[in-house]
Amino acid sequence: MPLPDLSSRRRFLKQTFAFSAASLLGQGVRYVDAAEVSKENLQLLMFGDWGASKDTKAQSAVASGMEAYVKQLKFTPESIFLLGDNFYGECKGGVNCPRWKEQFEDMYPAEVFPGKCHAMLGNHDYDDDKGMLQAELDYAAAHPGTRWSLPAKWYALETPLVRFLVLDSNYHNRKVSLTADEKAAQMAWLEKELAKPRKSQWLVVMGHHPLYSNGVHGDDQALIDAWDILFREHKVDFYFCGHDHDLQHTEFEGHPTSFVVSGGGGARAREIKEMRHGPFGLAVYGFTHLEVSPEKFVVRHIDANRKQLHAFSKDRVGKVTILS
Ligand SMILES: [Fe+2]
Repeated sequence: MPLPDLSSRRRFLKQTFAFSAASLLGQGVRYVDAAEVSKENLQLLMFGDWGASKDTKAQSAVASGMEAYVKQLKFTPESIFLLGDNFYGECKGGVNCPRWKEQFEDMYPAEVFPGKCHAMLGNHDYDDDKGMLQAELDYAAAHPGTRWSLPAKWYALETPLVRFLVLDSNYHNRKVSLTADEKAAQMAWLEKELAKPRKSQWLVVMGHHPLYSNGVHGDDQALIDAWDILFREHKVDFYFCGHDHDLQHTEFEGHPTSFVVSGGGGARAREIKEMRHGPFGLAVYGFTHLEVSPEKFVVRHIDANRKQLHAFSKDRVGKVTILS
């Protein structure tokens, strides 16, 4: 089902960003061709803000679009990253709430997406139902064979190509968030993890909340103060997050980290507030496709109709190239 693009026009190619004019020309909104996706590479999908509580039409449309996308491009994603706000509203029954089946197990069918689904916690996972936070941590143990994976509030994942550090970014929720002790423990863990010798080519950090955002929530000074200096110091390649219900890509001159928001998984898309960062931001339902090789990391923002809205690659020395 086609979904409305909530932006009156595409608001990408922010002029304050210092890419060359030639690299900004790109190829426009288009379908990805199967020949562009190599079976040799690691294929991952990610989206956040997906577990809408009442109207699931948009979530279904994004899920269907993602299914059509992988079928058309003939690849099976190794895994999916669920960038938080996994359940909005009530979910009675905890690990046995029927929404698990309707909005996770059946919504993203195992025949199409057989890999693990690595989750992280958003503000709604803390806020909306007091039992849901623990249920998300307990669900995999209660349902052996599920693809859902949330082993802890923060955790590391190692693959031969990528080291993923998944964080709990709930620093200042309206109702509940990480405690002071948890924040300190996570920071100590993060510093220790980042200081480990790098075995894989790519270093990725993920959390639900953006540090930098053009969306309604804006920049998060608490997270910037806590984490940005570590990202610079340890040359983190990417920070992936959701929270703002849109798709974004932000680069800063001289900063080793590419900041990517993928919050279009199904909760009501919201307008971009102000394009303070670039090169890309669009309020739209969709998901993000990551294609990884030792030489290149490609990020593609895809809408619910399978169209690529924005894509860029990063090479081994950190050079970012806008592809569309
Ligand atoms: Fe959120």
